Amino acid sequence: MTAPQLIAGNWKMNGLLGAKAEVTALVQALNGRKHLPDILICPPATLLRALIDAVEQGSIRLGGQTCHAKPNGAHTGDISAEMLKDAGASCVIVGHSERRTDHKETSAEVAAQATAAWRAGLTAIICIGETEAERVSGKTETVLAAQIDGSVPTDATPQTTAVAYEPIWAIGTGKTASLADIEYAHAFIRQRMAAKLGATGSAIRLLYGGSVKPSNAKEILHAKGVDGVLVGGASLKATDFLAIIEGAKPG
Ligand code: 13P
Repeated sequence: MTAPQLIAGNWKMNGLLGAKAEVTALVQALNGRKHLPDILICPPATLLRALIDAVEQGSIRLGGQTCHAKPNGAHTGDISAEMLKDAGASCVIVGHSERRTDHKETSAEVAAQATAAWRAGLTAIICIGETEAERVSGKTETVLAAQIDGSVPTDATPQTTAVAYEPIWAIGTGKTASLADIEYAHAFIRQRMAAKLGATGSAIRLLYGGSVKPSNAKEILHAKGVDGVLVGGASLKATDFLAIIEGAKPG
């Protein structure tokens, strides 16, 4: 049996307490619907507790946006996977390109974060993707291969892990990758994951992220090799995120 598609929203550094109304509206709109995909919202960690009651009755899970590799300690400003779990998360995004760029996170650190997520009982969404410069100079495959090799621990399983392909040039730019680009990259990632992890690597869900919106979600979600999407800006509004969820294959 294949897993349902995963529709994940990454709110990034957006959302105050008032954003709970969007989540409540989404829960209400989804109420009673059948054959839903898996749905995840990753708000800022400050909102996890507040959103827990909003999602309690529904089919939405919550996640964090990063975690420290250690369970606790002298790491001012950081949050551990155990803390995210304690606050109500069931998943955490690791290795997002904005973390790799803004905080100089390396693939080795991302792999350690994924392992920390599993230690705490969270699933990990491990992000990879090439820059515009790497793409135009024909380095996409080399970059993706290195990120898979370095960021995806060898004991990743479909139950504990998803991989998100987020070409950096498509993030927040409105410039979505073409379906051909997405299918090509996903086929490459799938083959590399299978080479690294065997049958397990063939079953781990592969998400696409980068300017996914209501107008393009359905065709992306029906593209070959796409097991879900990781959505930034368009996950902030219940109506937009709902329209994206509706584009998924029936779960
Ligand atoms: P946008 O959907 O805003 O392009 O962001 C994508 C992303 O980075 C999700 O993690």
